[in-house]
Amino acid sequence: MSTEQRKILVTSALPYANGSIHLGHLVEYIQTDIWSRFQKMRGHECYYVCADDAHGTPIMLRARAEGIEPEELIARVWTEHTEDFAGFAIAFDNYHSTHSEENRVCATTIYARNRDAGHIVRRTISQAYDPEAEMFLPDRFIKGTCPKCGAEDQYGDNCEVCGATYAPTELKNPVSAVSGATPIERDSEHLFFKLGNFEKVLRDWHKAGHVQAEVANKLNEWFEAGLNDWDISRDAPYFGFEIPDAEGKYFYVWLDAPIGYMASFRHFCNRTGVDFDAFWDADSKAELYHFIGKDIIYFHALFWPAMLHGAGYRKPSGVYAHGFLTVDGAKMSKSRGTFIKARTYLKHLNPEYLRYYFAAKLSSRVDDLDLNLEDFANRVNADLVGKVVNIASRCAGFISKRFDGRLSASVDQAELLETFARAGDEIAELYEKREFGRAVREIMALADLANQYIDDKAPWVLAKDENRDAELHAICSTGINLFRVLIGYLKPVLPVMAEQAEAFLNVPPMRWDSQRTPLLGHAIEKFKPLMTRVDRDRITAMIEDSKEDLASEVKSTSKKPATDSPLVRDPVAATIAFDDFAKVDLRVVRIAKAEHVEGADKLLRLTLDLGGETRNVFAGIKAAYAPEDLEGKLTVMVANLAPRTMKFGVSEGMVLAAGPGGKDIFVLNPDAGAQPGMKVK
Ligand code: MSP
Ligand code: ZN
Repeated sequence: MSTEQRKILVTSALPYANGSIHLGHLVEYIQTDIWSRFQKMRGHECYYVCADDAHGTPIMLRARAEGIEPEELIARVWTEHTEDFAGFAIAFDNYHSTHSEENRVCATTIYARNRDAGHIVRRTISQAYDPEAEMFLPDRFIKGTCPKCGAEDQYGDNCEVCGATYAPTELKNPVSAVSGATPIERDSEHLFFKLGNFEKVLRDWHKAGHVQAEVANKLNEWFEAGLNDWDISRDAPYFGFEIPDAEGKYFYVWLDAPIGYMASFRHFCNRTGVDFDAFWDADSKAELYHFIGKDIIYFHALFWPAMLHGAGYRKPSGVYAHGFLTVDGAKMSKSRGTFIKARTYLKHLNPEYLRYYFAAKLSSRVDDLDLNLEDFANRVNADLVGKVVNIASRCAGFISKRFDGRLSASVDQAELLETFARAGDEIAELYEKREFGRAVREIMALADLANQYIDDKAPWVLAKDENRDAELHAICSTGINLFRVLIGYLKPVLPVMAEQAEAFLNVPPMRWDSQRTPLLGHAIEKFKPLMTRVDRDRITAMIEDSKEDLASEVKSTSKKPATDSPLVRDPVAATIAFDDFAKVDLRVVRIAKAEHVEGADKLLRLTLDLGGETRNVFAGIKAAYAPEDLEGKLTVMVANLAPRTMKFGVSEGMVLAAGPGGKDIFVLNPDAGAQPGMKVK
């Protein structure tokens, strides 16, 4: 290794211990795993740790709903998560839990040091309290009527119908989602972390380039808005660590969650003898990187470095945020079957297809990333099966049949191999910068060169002429060597295929530089196909299976009686019986008139013609349509919805506008088939 050996600690965000790993999560774990495998291949001392995020109200309530202790729930989920990760070849050096002794010690230390340095204050605040369940309610456990548009059953602090945001106290007719009781206001003393004390430290840290440019912009907005004190305590009942000097109060889950990175590493060091302090001391020369999703930047780029600094530890070398996964251009959806769990995927498809596809689409930026299932199949088939594996399969047969499984003593085109070897520096640079998509494109460009070389030399033609054996041998051996270099470069992305290739090539585990010298006169094994094509029927089956997942989930949640424990009403579990559905009167209607509503951002007032009768309906589709585009069109409405009084007047029904949401909402063009007033079956 020419460059100096680095000490690197890498983490991914800790998944919550009350849900399954899904393909959205995997964007992050695959991204981090590729990066850490790459660093290890380069010969650095790199460790990748993670853990389950096991604390907080949702986990406490989920356990209650299942009638078990939280410890039992988190143990079960830990096993599921580790199995799912293993299925995708995510190679953690340690996978721990935030509900661990190591984390209690780390959290308590970080808290106490910040407290002693004057960064913690106590203040009494007033909060929503559920008198029946006898607990304070986090925002998302309060629901009620939207104060802006009047939509019922809205959770927490934003309305899914009109998009308004508000304080949960502004909700009309609020009820607790835990017990159904009306929440009351109640005082309680809380502990706060004085984030504002760290403004200069944080600004300097951001300026030093430890976050992505887009994130730095966001952080500036937050600085402009001012850094507020952060509430780090929660009242009992709570599943977490009790605060040592505040009886009955617990650390808020987000306090001890990032500390879980440290605790997982501590657990690892205890097991292996690696020097913990060398990675965490304030003057540590080791590098520390956190891979996270864009939704949790605030915690990782503000609270976490501040807490570390306040406690006399080093700050992260980099916080790298990625975007969110969409499937076929839309948010993952349970009803469409695109909310795909890791486990469901593994039942149908090779995990390395997904590793490759994500790698091909990942960059160092915070952009969202789309899993387009058609593109996924095409790309994997064309690149991995059609290009990479094909190189070996075109050459290997001749080597085993004609040359006793032994490669030639010299190669046919040293320059081509040299080109491949030289490309390694640039590809390494791209991996290092997390430009995986570009790295993959470089590698595929090399694969094209290799295939072109084989096409030009046409070994299958030479094979017919016994006098040209030496040429045939050298060409096929060159092809195998080119294949070997490509697999080496792809190994961080495709570790399983690389391992099979190592067995085929009869070589020890490849490191980044080990492909620089060609294999000459070397015996290889018989070639077995390394990857089969993506079978589109399996994709369809996986989507179907994901729809079933939802059905069984609904069943298992609604089966549980809310005996002695408050049952959280999961919005997902709210199905209706067929009889209920039959009560809905759906009719085709003509939009006779569509107008803007004074003072409403999202609503249009529609006059609907039901074929004789007219109705006035307010619809939140202003973002998608200008009124003039709607007039004369047909749509479907719920004709027997009870009228509702809204700020702007009475709404007498609801129009159904199908589509992926946002700007694309479909209405029907009038055609001979549909008539206003027709019943929709
Ligand atoms: N428990 C917190 C993290 C604590 S870290 C100290 C959490 N858990 S999570 O399970 O909701 O998410 C874990 C990671 O997966 C987060 O980085 C999150 O951004 C990421 N993703 C979850 N859903 C995702 C997508 N649909 N797409 C991409 N990443 C996603 O947040
Ligand atoms: Zn609303």
